[in-house]
Amino acid sequence: MEKKNQPIGIFDSGVGGLSVWKELVKSLPNESVIYYADNANCPYGPKSKENIIELASRVVEFLISKDCKIIVVACNTATAAAIEFLRTNYSLPFIGMEPAVKPAAQNSKTKSIAVLATEGTFNGKLYIETSRKYAKDVVLNIKVGDKLVDIVENGLIDDPFTEKHLASLVKPLIEKNIDHLVLGCTHYPFLLEKLKKVLPDNVMIIDPAPAVIKQTIKILEQNNLLNNSKSQFYEFYSSGNFEVLQGILKNITNKDYIVKKI
Ligand code: DGL
Repeated sequence: MEKKNQPIGIFDSGVGGLSVWKELVKSLPNESVIYYADNANCPYGPKSKENIIELASRVVEFLISKDCKIIVVACNTATAAAIEFLRTNYSLPFIGMEPAVKPAAQNSKTKSIAVLATEGTFNGKLYIETSRKYAKDVVLNIKVGDKLVDIVENGLIDDPFTEKHLASLVKPLIEKNIDHLVLGCTHYPFLLEKLKKVLPDNVMIIDPAPAVIKQTIKILEQNNLLNNSKSQFYEFYSSGNFEVLQGILKNITNKDYIVKKI
């Protein structure tokens, strides 16, 4: 198969990366895409950098064995811990998640913004550098999204506890008069409707997925890797509980996809 017609690989510690997959297939409908959810090892957030590098490398090797031409690391935590290692050790291009601090800081009127992410993401060099570079003129509030990955992974988005828990997480941020909330974890866009309910109307919620897909398109174009064949497919793999993945896929596409457990 010609390289440009090989699939795009995309992975996350679990189902969260589907929020990026959704943007990817919307913007690049001619591409074949293989999604891998490492939910046997989810959450990545509290794990050590070394452990995340090991897990991410295993997933990357699987996606390479499936002939992927490029890999989207649809996980902020894995990007923070492992993207440098992956770029150094594998020859295909990698696209990582970036905390959208820049647009939030540029557009803030109250000069107070917030990022909601995992511990691992906040500890990463990428987050520290991005915030140093772009958040000079604003107050940057950070909050670890305690329990949120588990809520999404366990299909508890509509559980009454979820809204109460979100309200208590964002309360200190509201008190800081934020007007932008950056979602720094790909699981969180699945909580968007609940977040809107517990935040004041003037708070803009930023999902970085569209910007990441824009960058993916740019890299595919630069490397002459856009698919030009007529055949195209989607595949899904899970190292753990595949049913939640199937459920979320059904919700976002209205189609029944088979998720292969490996
Ligand atoms: N979706 C991952 C992220 O963007 C979840 C992190 C985790 O597994 O803890 O960071």
